[in-house]
Amino acid sequence: MPAKMTAPRVRAMKEKGEKVVCVTAYDFPAAWIAEEAGVDVVLVGDSVGNVVLGYESTVPVTMDEMSHHVRAVRRATKLALLVADLPFGSYHASTAQAVESACRLMKQGGEAIKLEGAYPDAIAAMTKAGIPVMGHVGMTPQSVHAFGGFRVQGRGEEADRVMDQAIAVQEAGAFAIVLELIPAELAAAITQRLDIPTIGIGAGPHCDGQIQVFHDLIGLSDGSFKHAKAYVDGRQILGDALSRYVKEVRNLAFPTDRESF
Ligand code: KIV
Repeated sequence: MPAKMTAPRVRAMKEKGEKVVCVTAYDFPAAWIAEEAGVDVVLVGDSVGNVVLGYESTVPVTMDEMSHHVRAVRRATKLALLVADLPFGSYHASTAQAVESACRLMKQGGEAIKLEGAYPDAIAAMTKAGIPVMGHVGMTPQSVHAFGGFRVQGRGEEADRVMDQAIAVQEAGAFAIVLELIPAELAAAITQRLDIPTIGIGAGPHCDGQIQVFHDLIGLSDGSFKHAKAYVDGRQILGDALSRYVKEVRNLAFPTDRESF
């Protein structure tokens, strides 16, 4: 029987040369499918904001919204490690605020916390409090307005800044780190430099693991992201199924005796 994934086990996968497979989930059915597929890590990302709540970015996402989705994912996640994302504004004011927000998401069912950017004091304080922390550098979507859009980070002279942030995150005590939208060559260099696993999204093939947004993988987003791959055309398949339902109700083909009591 497969063993429960934990933060220390994720960290140890790097030494063993095992790829860490991660996916986002925001609700019970997605977490259930991810769990059945055997992923190592389920992230309740603040991407819930733009992916399922219809916001333009992750900036409006609140702690209440994150708590709600963490609880839903918790109910279906058994063997995978459940990582909960701290939303914008929940850790920026002070280390105390960061620890308080992290504790709140752990109480909803998180088994580790992710936060964006180089916040070594917050990471160290959470680690001290017994909370495993996943870092996140490169294109950190909560800073979309500072970056002036969703664009690749760490090109040219910017590479040193991203490398330094990744090192700071590791030194503060993180057990893993997401590298988002950075050149593959820089991701490879960070992966080589760090002892903790790097989890790439739009960061090339040399990371220790990969993370993708659930809806991108199943073809339920607009398909415009270069870093994503749809393994099924969900929009088409679900759209066809719903159209058949609409047609069958209108032409009295559903329900039949078989669906009746
Ligand atoms: O919120 C999120 O889904 C994320 C991943 C894309 C890494 O941060």
